Amino acid sequence: MLTRELVEERSFFDGLAVQPADGLLGLIGMYRADPQPGKIDLGVGMFRDDLGRTPVMRAVKAAEAMLLRDQETKSYLGAEGDLRFVELLAGVAFGTGADRLVGVQTPGGTGALRLGAELIARSRPGAAVWIGTPTWPNHAPIFRDSGLAIQTHRFFDVASAEIDFEAMIEDLAQARAGDVLLLHGCCHNPTGADFTAEQWQEIGRLCESRGLLPFIDLAYQGLGDGLAADAAAMRGLLGALPEAVIAYSCDKNFGLYRERVGALWVQSDASDLVRGNVLALARSIWSMPPDHGAAVVRLVLENAALRADWAAELDAMRARINGLRMALAASHERLAAIGNQRGMFALLPLGPDAVEALRRERGIYMAGNGRINIAGLTLDNIPAFVAGLAPYLS
Ligand code: LMR
Repeated sequence: MLTRELVEERSFFDGLAVQPADGLLGLIGMYRADPQPGKIDLGVGMFRDDLGRTPVMRAVKAAEAMLLRDQETKSYLGAEGDLRFVELLAGVAFGTGADRLVGVQTPGGTGALRLGAELIARSRPGAAVWIGTPTWPNHAPIFRDSGLAIQTHRFFDVASAEIDFEAMIEDLAQARAGDVLLLHGCCHNPTGADFTAEQWQEIGRLCESRGLLPFIDLAYQGLGDGLAADAAAMRGLLGALPEAVIAYSCDKNFGLYRERVGALWVQSDASDLVRGNVLALARSIWSMPPDHGAAVVRLVLENAALRADWAAELDAMRARINGLRMALAASHERLAAIGNQRGMFALLPLGPDAVEALRRERGIYMAGNGRINIAGLTLDNIPAFVAGLAPYLS
């Protein structure tokens, strides 16, 4: 029998391992606490305007005012969330061809990724998920914590900042039927390097011939080349393959970051079976998704004037990012490839020591792997940024 002393010394939680702090989210606090004048925040992926602000979008503000004025109840909706939101967002994501898709609202894109991962784990326990490296640092933990096996494949050459498609195909030769292939629909995070239309077609053929399930993470629609252009690769894949999973985030294209607005869609002929399991899983994880942000997106998308204003503001956000991208690409020969990439991010060929030195000595904040959020720059501070960077670009 344990003595009282022994019982008191032991914690129920001593089986837990110490966890490192989240490298990306930790940058928010570090930047805030840094007193250096002229500091530059290129850390977490949030759109910023010329003044460094992440504004609430105009149409979102207007929809929030409507919601405050007109909403009469906050009664429960159900595990699927706001289905009108899901339907309208499907129109944005898929155009008109969404009829073979089962969709539910999720707490952000992360919620969608997790729900999709749990669904796969339920159907194929321990299935392998192929993830191209580098990727968003939360991808592997989401799939791993759902009980899936992680396999990595090459796809990007950091030194030349270009896609190495041959390496990707070579690595994926090891993939087996029933494995999952994670793909960034557009605006790759962290590299900014997206596949060409031909490469997407080859990925589709690979999935078909080897029996791989594509799992598409679409978190930046509208911030690359436009709403339809950024969805084109995903739409092509859905047309070519019988089954696919899509995790969608409204964080960036509606600027709703902390409201946690996303959706999961599954394309499958077994739609009733899929829907029942998706709802059962959502019910046991979060029961119902938070409503506010999704209700706002629904209002924006169903009101023609708000929708047009949202699309116009998104166009302006994209133009700002792409303008900064071009200015950065022109500022140094080692940064030229950035001009061919899209979305918020670029991956600089910097080691951890350089990233650390830039933060300490220049107040330049970026992710530990050298990823920068281009929207954190301004045309005014690009020269100072590149001057700080230049000694590290061989
Ligand atoms: C990022 O990659 O910076 C964003 O997607 C924020 C996050 O959740 O990591």
